[in-house]
Amino acid sequence: MADRTALITGITGQDGSYLAELLVSKGYRVTGLVRRLSSPNLSKIATIVDQVKLVDGDLIDQSSLNHAVKVAQPDEIYNLGAQSFVGASFSQPVLTGEITGIGTLRLLEAARTNAPQAHFYQASSSEMFGHVEREPQDESTVFHPRSPYGYAKVYAYWACVNAREAYSFYAANGILFNHESPRRGLEFVTRKISDGVARIALGQAESLTLGNLDARRDWGYAPDYVDLMWRTLQQKEPSDYVGATGESHTVREFVEAAFEAAEVDDWERRLKTDPRFERPSEVYALRGNPDKARRELGWTPTVRFRDLVRIMVQADLERLRHRPHESH
Ligand code: NAP
Ligand code: GDD
Repeated sequence: MADRTALITGITGQDGSYLAELLVSKGYRVTGLVRRLSSPNLSKIATIVDQVKLVDGDLIDQSSLNHAVKVAQPDEIYNLGAQSFVGASFSQPVLTGEITGIGTLRLLEAARTNAPQAHFYQASSSEMFGHVEREPQDESTVFHPRSPYGYAKVYAYWACVNAREAYSFYAANGILFNHESPRRGLEFVTRKISDGVARIALGQAESLTLGNLDARRDWGYAPDYVDLMWRTLQQKEPSDYVGATGESHTVREFVEAAFEAAEVDDWERRLKTDPRFERPSEVYALRGNPDKARRELGWTPTVRFRDLVRIMVQADLERLRHRPHESH
């Protein structure tokens, strides 16, 4: 794979950091788009920051995207940048649409103009299925998004399909179900649980407060899913793929498994609920069918539910014992 070049938006996030590590290990020259913040936010890519090139830019700013594509001269473009927290999309719907929806179109335009031969990966989401019409969901399941984040992703999905159909541009969607890791942001439910349970186990907190405990998700392990992203762009013809484990669990089951992993008994009294953490319109249950990815990409998830919970809880116990002020 020597001499391949990739541009990653969202390189400072959970997936972007794992993908950058994967591509660097395969010999790619990697450029990452980083937006200007008042303080640097490179902690997730700290171990490879010297092996990648960073370029300033924002999915809201067309000229910075044109510049990034020109500088990177990418063979592959991975659009992982987004306002990715569903809860926040209800309070900031227009911003979410700008970044997550139209931001994708901006990057597509920059790519078609400045790197027309590049392969383009779009981080689409199972959140697009929303109020699901059937289970499990696959590439042909209809979309019924239930949040401003969900419908912004639907816009981005169709922008990619249209670039493919109208201009023969290589654009592929990964319709990925929830994937988690110790690098997950603390506002997402799995990490909120692993962090909260670890704090309780270490005597640093009394209780954990969540929203809807009955929501079901198909939770996988993020490093598996960045491998799927790479495999998607190695195909001769672009196509869209569901990435999922095929198994779903409730939030309550995640909590139970986390307390078990931290060896905390009598945990029910520690768990509280607050409607503040519920959403105006909820996605009650998601479970994916990854058969197409298995068949065409040879992809299979390697980490199952209980191991995922254990990995996350152990990482938070370790961090809170030694580096309580860092988030991962
Ligand atoms: P994440 O940790 O929230 O990372 C999001 C990234 O987007 C961060 O690097 C962030 O930069 C960047 N970003 C935010 N606003 C931006 C802007 N205006 N311009 C440029 N970059 C911007 O998300 P993730 O979990 O890694 O997910 C990666 C992608 O996959 C996202 O598009 C997400 O919607 C999608 N997805 C995720 C899952 C999942 O379960 N993780 C499932 C399906 C789809 P800062 O560090 O500066 O904030
Ligand atoms: N965040 C959060 N906090 N969620 C809670 C809480 C809480 O205190 N209590 C219950 N939940 C429920 C939410 O209502 C939701 O049904 C479920 O837990 C999962 O919430 P999140 O972890 O915030 O993830 P998400 O499923 O909404 O979105 C994630 O997955 C999508 C793929 O389906 C994000 O990563 C999206 O970017 C991604 O596209």
